[in-house]
Amino acid sequence: MRITKVGVVGCGQMGSGVAQVCAQAGYQILVREVSETLLGKGLRSIERFLAKGVEKGKVSPEEKAGVMDRIVGTTALEDLAACDLVIEAITENAEDKKDILRRLDGLCGPATILASNTSSLSITTLAVATGRRERVVGLHFFNPVPLMQLVEVVRTIDTDPAVLEAVTEFTRSLGKTPVQATDTTGFIVNRLLVPYLLDAVRSLGEGVGTIEDIDRAMMLGCAYPMGPLALLDLVGLDTTFSIAEIMFEEFRERRFAPPPLLKRMVLAGYLGRKTGRGFYDHSSDPPVANNHLVRWASPDARP
Ligand code: CAA
Repeated sequence: MRITKVGVVGCGQMGSGVAQVCAQAGYQILVREVSETLLGKGLRSIERFLAKGVEKGKVSPEEKAGVMDRIVGTTALEDLAACDLVIEAITENAEDKKDILRRLDGLCGPATILASNTSSLSITTLAVATGRRERVVGLHFFNPVPLMQLVEVVRTIDTDPAVLEAVTEFTRSLGKTPVQATDTTGFIVNRLLVPYLLDAVRSLGEGVGTIEDIDRAMMLGCAYPMGPLALLDLVGLDTTFSIAEIMFEEFRERRFAPPPLLKRMVLAGYLGRKTGRGFYDHSSDPPVANNHLVRWASPDARP
């Protein structure tokens, strides 16, 4: 089972990263977005990342040019019909993902493997929307995709072991390290990470510490590269909120329940880096903690 032609559906934060790492590994990539505007935005974000890599001396100008040449953008899903593997990385919405996979199932040849980069939806639900459930897997990349080493390779009850082996080998060919997980909501990483992130928001709301102290504590006390509130700003508060809702629905355990402060921030548009404000205000460099959130959530707390 040789994977040579790879398609990516969605060129947002995750899709652009997946397209980039595939192209960096030498694959010809077709990436599909719904509009020329979104496609242009995604391709520009890849270009910017590579330019920063050139600045840092991590990527040569020739490699950057080669990577951009290997990525072809399209707005037509039909263009992905001849791919050996298609990875969907659209927004975390079950109906939209099922629709894309159903359409790809109708367009692609019988050997094509369909993968989802979902972080919390059930791969089984997505697989049964197609007529090839044994060729549907989860390939969960981490943000920022070009810098994070891990890919969770997720199997359903029906996944063909040969397909699993082919995609596992594919992730290795990208220079990533695969781990295998069963199709259980949140897989391995989010099962452990999401309650931790939600507890950080609860701690903030209860006045346990300031935004900066909570982040500093976990960075210096546990050697995490980022504090949990800064990480929430990176992942997106809306994304984390929706993952938590799905996990709470599956497990019915309080540790997965999104706290009201997180919900209020999402409702008010504090989505993190993507909207320029979350737990931090990203309009300044370095970002400054939004301490009014602490005063709102816990009027007696420090700042
Ligand atoms: N091109 C090439 N290399 C680059 C680069 C670029 N554009 N930008 C940075 N790098 C390299 C740097 O040169 C550096 O390399 P060395 O270690 O060899 O020096 C390395 O990447 C780290 O970069 P920086 O020093 O500039 O940045 P940093 O130290 O602040 O690290 C980070 C940034 C990698 C994001 C780090 O903070 C981190 O690991 N944070 C945690 C991220 C995380 O937990 N992600 C998972 C989120 S959860 C998720 O995604 C799943 C989900 O479902 C929600």
